[in-house]
Amino acid sequence: MSRLLVIESSPRTADSFSRKLTRTAVDLALSADPNLQIVRRDLAAEPIPHLSEATIVAMRTPRPHLTEAQRAALDLSDFLTDEVLGADRLLVGAPMHNFGVPSALKAYIDHIARAGLTFSYSAEGRPQGLLTGKSALILTSAGGVYSEGHAASLDFVSPYLRSVFGVLGVATEFIHIEGVAFGPDAAAAAVAQAETALAKSGWAGALAA
Ligand SMILES: Cc1cc2nc3c(=O)[nH]c(=O)nc-3n(C[C@H](O)[C@H](O)[C@H](O)COP(=O)(O)O)c2cc1C
Repeated sequence: MSRLLVIESSPRTADSFSRKLTRTAVDLALSADPNLQIVRRDLAAEPIPHLSEATIVAMRTPRPHLTEAQRAALDLSDFLTDEVLGADRLLVGAPMHNFGVPSALKAYIDHIARAGLTFSYSAEGRPQGLLTGKSALILTSAGGVYSEGHAASLDFVSPYLRSVFGVLGVATEFIHIEGVAFGPDAAAAAVAQAETALAKSGWAGALAA
């Protein structure tokens, strides 16, 4: 049985464009594979705290040397890391907030980017992903348009997520909903375009395979 980890990061619920598209993607995936196991990680409903000093120290301490308190400081990060290690594919809803990802998503990534667990360093000190064989479909939403035009250089969502998941060994694919701030018609057209891209992407087929 294949497992899909769905990561939501919009604080908005009913009106969220990224959540609307992740719902469509999950529906498509389930219609292709009714046995697909869905695991949900909603970073707005259950916020992940920023890394504390205690957690950072524990992350850098060899496991056999961890104190009881350091083990406890790693509990959440260990849980989230196991969750991502146990997934076959990831589906990420990623709104643009001030040109980057929502801080909730950044905080989550800080917990799952773990040397020795989700990436390692080569002899030359280069990071190498340990989440190999996994891929992520990332559904972004933004008020403006960043895939082309004068604002493209302000997009720190796609390059960041492509880079950080790439370092972890996860291949990324993106579908964008953009220009939702240009009025309801523009928003509806952007959603329709993204839904078409999703249907054509082979996403559900790849999960069922
Ligand atoms: C706090 C905040 C910051 C935002 N910053 C940007 C931005 O920098 N550029 C942009 O084009 N849109 C920005 N927006 C608009 C959102 O990207 C847009 O509403 C998008 O649809 C949010 O995704 P969601 O509908 O899934 O919540 C911002 C929205 C919020 C709430």
